[in-house]
Amino acid sequence: MDKANSSVVSEFVLLGLCSSQKLQFFYFFFFSVLYMVIVLGNLLIILTVTFDTSLHSPMYFLLGNLSFIDICQASFATPKMIADFLSEHKTISFSGCIAQIFFIHLFTGGEMVLLVSMAYDRYVAIYKPLYYVIIMSQRTCTVLVTISWAVGLVHTLSQLSFTVNLPFCGPNVMDSFFCDLPRVTKLACLDSNIIEILIVVNSGVLSLSTFSLLVSSYIIILVTILLKSSAAMAKTFSTLASHIAVVILFFGPCIFIYVWPFTIYPVDKLLDIFYTVFTPILNPIIYTLRNRDMKAAIRKIVNYYLRPRIISEMSLVVNFPSLRQNSFKFLRSIPCLIF
Ligand SMILES: *[C@@H]1O[C@H](CO)[C@@H](O)[C@H](O)[C@H]1NC(C)=O
Repeated sequence: MDKANSSVVSEFVLLGLCSSQKLQFFYFFFFSVLYMVIVLGNLLIILTVTFDTSLHSPMYFLLGNLSFIDICQASFATPKMIADFLSEHKTISFSGCIAQIFFIHLFTGGEMVLLVSMAYDRYVAIYKPLYYVIIMSQRTCTVLVTISWAVGLVHTLSQLSFTVNLPFCGPNVMDSFFCDLPRVTKLACLDSNIIEILIVVNSGVLSLSTFSLLVSSYIIILVTILLKSSAAMAKTFSTLASHIAVVILFFGPCIFIYVWPFTIYPVDKLLDIFYTVFTPILNPIIYTLRNRDMKAAIRKIVNYYLRPRIISEMSLVVNFPSLRQNSFKFLRSIPCLIF
């Protein structure tokens, strides 16, 4: 096809996070540890939410799904960045680059809608507490999660449709550690103004509309709580505060990069780090440290699975009365087995 003729560039050179040779080992170590913390922390949340029956409620289902997206988001570019710290030639193939663009918009688009779903869940809990169980049924949760992924998919496919046919023939060096649209379109050898505008409109509409939806729903919820002012307020308030913190930390960098995407600032690299590494790590920290139920459940799970056997046996006896009865039954039946 003639696409092969016009696309001379078959790979891109990534300049990486920094050029200092000395710091490469330090960064390698630092980001490896961060990456492990992200994966383990979010995995712990998923396990806790899945296996602790006291957390089988819509809010925690959505939180578990958020952790899953966080792991995905931390995994599409960070491992390559970490490996690149140790390699001389930091390159990425054309198709690898397209894949990274695909995933970043899939996951960020999905995460935005999932955050809206979590706000909706809180909204129902506070505005219609009597109907909460009916409105937020298992089916509603599944629908909300499906919509999140569907919006992410539509968003990323529409972004890619602008990009995938761009001709690349000139420079192929990107001052970044992964491929994203603003930088890639800059390298196309054609006047990409219209495409840039389409990308801004597409990403801008999604992020600004979900962001304003979130902000207005949290304002409504906060006002309602302030007017009610009851004893339960303190607990609700701390849950909301953690949701709002996540929203600000997630949308801040996204909007900054995509609302002014085509003047590339030095600070953009820092923001890229922000939403590939720091948001995924902040979610588990914010949600677990601020949430008493979550902390208790995690402690239970950690006791159950990670303590050495004898200690865990003891904590079983302490934590689970029914198991204690069972083990007494078992102990009592031992004489029957022997004799
Ligand atoms: C994600 O949401 C679905 C639908 O509510 C739920 O069944 C599933 O358990 C959730 N996943 C996690 C990891 O919590």
